[in-house]
Order: sequence, then C-alpha cells, then structure tokens
Amino acid sequence: MILVTGGAGFIGGNFVLDWLKDPHAEGIINLDKLTYAGNLATLDSLKNDSRHVFVQGDIGDRALVAQLLKEHQPRAIVNFAAESHVDRSIHGPADFIETNIVGTFNLLECAREYWSGLPDDAKRTFRFHHVSTDEVYGSLAPTAPAFTETHSYEPNSPYSASKAASDHLVRAWFHTYGFPVVTTNCSNNYGPYHFPEKLIPLVILNAINGKPLPIYGDGQQVRDWLYVGDHCSAIRAVLAHGALGETYNIGGWNEKTNLSVVQTICQILDELRPRADGQSYAKQITFVKDRPGHDRRYAIDARKIERELGWRPAETFDTGIRKTVQWYLDNPSWVEGVVSGAYRDWVQKHYN
Ligand code: NAD
Ligand code: TYD
Repeated sequence: MILVTGGAGFIGGNFVLDWLKDPHAEGIINLDKLTYAGNLATLDSLKNDSRHVFVQGDIGDRALVAQLLKEHQPRAIVNFAAESHVDRSIHGPADFIETNIVGTFNLLECAREYWSGLPDDAKRTFRFHHVSTDEVYGSLAPTAPAFTETHSYEPNSPYSASKAASDHLVRAWFHTYGFPVVTTNCSNNYGPYHFPEKLIPLVILNAINGKPLPIYGDGQQVRDWLYVGDHCSAIRAVLAHGALGETYNIGGWNEKTNLSVVQTICQILDELRPRADGQSYAKQITFVKDRPGHDRRYAIDARKIERELGWRPAETFDTGIRKTVQWYLDNPSWVEGVVSGAYRDWVQKHYN
C-alpha cells in the first residue's frame, strides 16, 4: 500500500481517484483531518472499493501515524496535507505553522522511525514524497527567467513561508539521516473538486450565481496554470523514478494574467450557459482591494522533469479550463455539499 495524506482535499483527492482508476494499483491509506478543505464527497465513487482505507486524523498525531505505518506497512508516503490558501494564511497564520511546519516535522519523524526498522530491501525502495508549491520561490519580475530548482527561496506570504519551512525540513532529513525523500514544487492547479475559495472555481460559481467576479488589484498578476490531472501524473513519475533527495519543478507552460483567466472563463460560460439577458458574464468582473504582499508573477521552468523523467503536461490551458468549467456545470450536488455555512462565513469575512 501507499499512505497518502490530505487525500480528501483538491489535489490529494484527484490523486487518489486517479491512482485507483488502475485496477492493478496498490491500495491507499488516506489520512486526512477533514478541515474545511477536506471533503469526503470527492471520494464517493470509492465507497465500495476495499483498496481505499480512509482514516480521519492529523499528520501531527504521532501515535496515530505510527500505528497506521505499523499496521499497513506502506512502501511510500505522499504528503499532500497542508493548509493551502494564501488569503486564509493572511487572516490567520497559526494553522499554517501548525500543520505545514510542525505537522510535517512530526510526520517526518514517525516515517523515519518506521523506515529505520524496515528490512534492507524495503528500506532501499521506500519513498517519502513531499508535495510543495512554486510559491516558495517568491515573486518574479515580468521578464525574469522562470523558476528552476536552484532558484533561491524567497517566500512572501505566511502560506509560502510555511511551505518553504517544510521543504527545508524534508531536505534536512535526507542530508542528515539519509531518509529517502523526493520533493515536487508545482505551479497553480485547477480542475474538478477544487474548493471554491480559489480563483478559478470561485469565478465559475460566482458567474453562474449572478455574483461579482472579484479581481484583486489590477488583475495583471501572472500565474502558471496546470490541470490537476497533469500534476497527478507528474507525481506518479517522480514517485516511481525520481532521484533521492532531488526536487522537481512541475508546471504547465501556461503563464496567464488573472484578468485573462477570468475573461476566458466568461467566454466559455457565455457559450455553454449564456446569461438570460444575453450579455457576457464579463459584465460581472469587479476590481477589488489587492491582497497584501501579493506576488506579481510565478513561472515554472519544468525542463528538468521532462529531461530526466520524460514528463510533460497533457492538457493545454484551453483544453483544461473548458473541461473544468463543464465539470462545475455538471456537478451541482458536489458544489452544494461544499458551499456550507462555514464557506459562506469565509466569503462574508474576506469579501465583506
Ligand atoms: P486543499 O486545501 O484542497 O487540501 C488539503 C487537505 O489536507 C484537506 O483535505 C485537509 O483536510 C487536509 N489537512 C489539512 N491539515 C491537515 C492535517 N493537519 N492532517 C491531515 N490532513 C490535513 O489543498 P490542495 O490544493 O489539494 O493542495 C495539496 C498540496 O499541494 C498542499 O501541500 C499544497 O501546498 C500543494 N500545492 C497546491 C497547489 C494548488 O494550486 N492548489 C499548487 C502546488 C502545490
Ligand atoms: P489563488 O487561487 O488564491 O491561488 P494563489 O494565491 O495560491 O496563487 O489565487 C490565484 C490568483 O488570483 C492570485 O494572484 C490571487 C488572485 N485572486 C483574485 O484576483 N481574486 C480572488 O477572489 C482570488 C481568490 C484570487
């Protein structure tokens, strides 16, 4: 088996579904705390699949993690669990420190203890895969070259600082203890099962519900967008063939301004579900106060993973965003499930 943490979240959930699509795949123990961002409805289709063992719990709970490792003897851990939303990290950084830094530390310590006791063969093949973000590298000037794996760490938000700290711990556990790790730093993901506090699902749902489409500042901030299925295939490639102690940047070669992303979503919705008054959804675009410390540009140089592991994204932004918009139109019951009271409180607090 493999142990996946945070597998009820956006990317972890997609990863679990994707992994178990293969009838010959190893089983998954899915450890997730089910914070506001965790959602078991994402995993509904696995209800009768005995290869999926869901455990509600915290990566920082050493007794629980040690017991799961002992019982299931996984050959790898893929660590998705994290607090992941920059805006929430600005309102309240404590959870980010607790899960992303202290939680990762505890998970590393438990995993190292388990790994130390494995027989030689199992010890050699064991992997700890840490899933991280391009945001650890900070912000790029408009024409600066994209982030490579050797770019210095310059995190600017509580979220990215906490992820940077976790990356450093993972690196140190390799260099100090020989613990077999790989780390991936990925750009902004989008796709099905994305919690609607993040830009793309928020804009799709606000649009069809007749609400404003909030763009921070001038909307000229640039992100590199990757379809979540491509992130999953990259993680599989690194887990299978990545070199120990290495980091791999994962990106979509899709740099877009926030404004152009929102305009593209509006155009697709104009076609798939036109507004009753025949006007474009772009009419709902509203410029709002900028995010404090807002990074201007992220861009990933994903040549290393292509050169060494032969991975490239399968989706372009045009194909991926169309699939994503269609998925939200086709899955109103999943959306209903996540847009609960707690979600409404967040929207009220953040967008006033
Ligand atoms: P998410 O917020 O959708 O999901 C996080 C999951 O982790 C949730 O299911 C939550 O319940 C769980 N969790 C939180 N704290 C936990 C704890 N202490 N113990 C166990 N489970 C806990 O996040 P996501 O967008 O799926 O991101 C997954 C990972 O990928 C994160 O590490 C994030 O930093 C990284 N990442 C995200 C993106 C992106 O664009 N979303 C890009 C690059 C990297
Ligand atoms: P987000 O999805 O929060 O991802 P991240 O901050 O991790 O990159 O935001 C993507 C971009 O969209 C980011 O530049 C902030 C911007 N944004 C808005 O303009 N309006 C919004 O309501 C949100 C949530 C984000």
